[in-house]
Amino acid sequence: MGLSSRIRAFFDARFDTATAERFIDGQLHKRLPPHTGWLHVFGSLSLLLFVSQVITGILLLIYYRPTPEEAYESIKYITADIHFGWLFRQVHAWGASLMIVAVTLHMMRTFFMGSYKKPREFTWVTGALLFLITITFGFTGYLLPWNQIAFWATTVGTESANKVPLIGPWLQYFLRGGDTVTGETLSRFFVAHVIILPWIMAGLVAVHLVLMRLNNLATLERVGQEKPVPPQRGIPFFPVHVAKEGVVAVLLFAVLVTLSVVAPWEIGEPADPLSTPAHIKPEWYFLPSYQLLKYFEGPYGAVVGIFACSVPFVLLLIWPFADRGKERHPRKRPAAVTVGLIGLLAALVLGYLGHVSETEQSYFGKRVHFDLLGRPHLVE
Ligand code: HEM
Repeated sequence: MGLSSRIRAFFDARFDTATAERFIDGQLHKRLPPHTGWLHVFGSLSLLLFVSQVITGILLLIYYRPTPEEAYESIKYITADIHFGWLFRQVHAWGASLMIVAVTLHMMRTFFMGSYKKPREFTWVTGALLFLITITFGFTGYLLPWNQIAFWATTVGTESANKVPLIGPWLQYFLRGGDTVTGETLSRFFVAHVIILPWIMAGLVAVHLVLMRLNNLATLERVGQEKPVPPQRGIPFFPVHVAKEGVVAVLLFAVLVTLSVVAPWEIGEPADPLSTPAHIKPEWYFLPSYQLLKYFEGPYGAVVGIFACSVPFVLLLIWPFADRGKERHPRKRPAAVTVGLIGLLAALVLGYLGHVSETEQSYFGKRVHFDLLGRPHLVE
């Protein structure tokens, strides 16, 4: 008897391997709808980035120290002295931004193809929660190097919590672990970033994938008229779709390493609670909310601002229950597609205004100054 047959016989004698084999075989060779193509790889791209973040994050954790005295120095040590430490740090930092891009593209794909409709509403809801967790990962991870930009961006970011009606002051105190950002805040963000969020995300991803498999991928047919995927026309998950995911995985790592080398994230100056830098801006993915909040000032304005910033997220969570239309094809859902495009455009415009606000930019040889609210003024 060969080695593989002996190993097989060993497990056969102890477990019901035939059932397990049938299950794995069924999942691996599952037929996906005929239109499944390159647009359907963003979900697995998000998953791949999550796995990459966990691996590079564990490697960083070996040397990272979550205290105000040591955090900044430990990151410097990782980048300067540890073999390939710079690479792990860069792949982790760039991976965070790319993961937000991947999750957003995946969300747009499922939105515009109407894949969130019955019976897949809960696949969408778990996905929307995953989106929120992905940006919370960004928010908590940003503070960990304990540099000036991180310290002050977190100070400003947690200040917005104060504007939440009724629980505002309590929420800010809870996030900071005190009245200001201190080592207590660093501890809290660290625990959230490396323990709480990863486990919640791993659990939610598992539920999301099981739900996706139970209902198979959506076709473009009307709700209630979906037919089972015909075996001769369906796309086999393995090897056809997996091959596409493989190509995307190789490209992703090429992009990650290239960005890490060509445009490395600087660590900047260590955090100094006594010296506030001139213009503090959050990470790019918070710029739309950051800019929107600026248009609502004063005690009541701030509350309205928090409300305006929360509405898109609430809408995102309940969207499959709000949109009761039966059509899936984007051409047959002009209203939903318009809402999606307006949301996307608003996020892009607000993000850009947030980026250029309080700076001077050059357009076709003319200098333009953008004020706090993003209004352009020609510089003479
Ligand atoms: C860490 C984040 C996420 C991971 C790892 C993930 C993973 C996946 C994977 C692998 C699929 C299979 C099909 C595909 O890739 O297009 C899928 C399907 C799906 N996802 Fe996600 N997803 C995430 C976030 C989201 C978000 C933010 C949403 C929307 C708010 C969402 C909604 C859906 C829906 C509705 C489907 C079913 C698509 C269909 O039936 O065609 N997912 N997800």
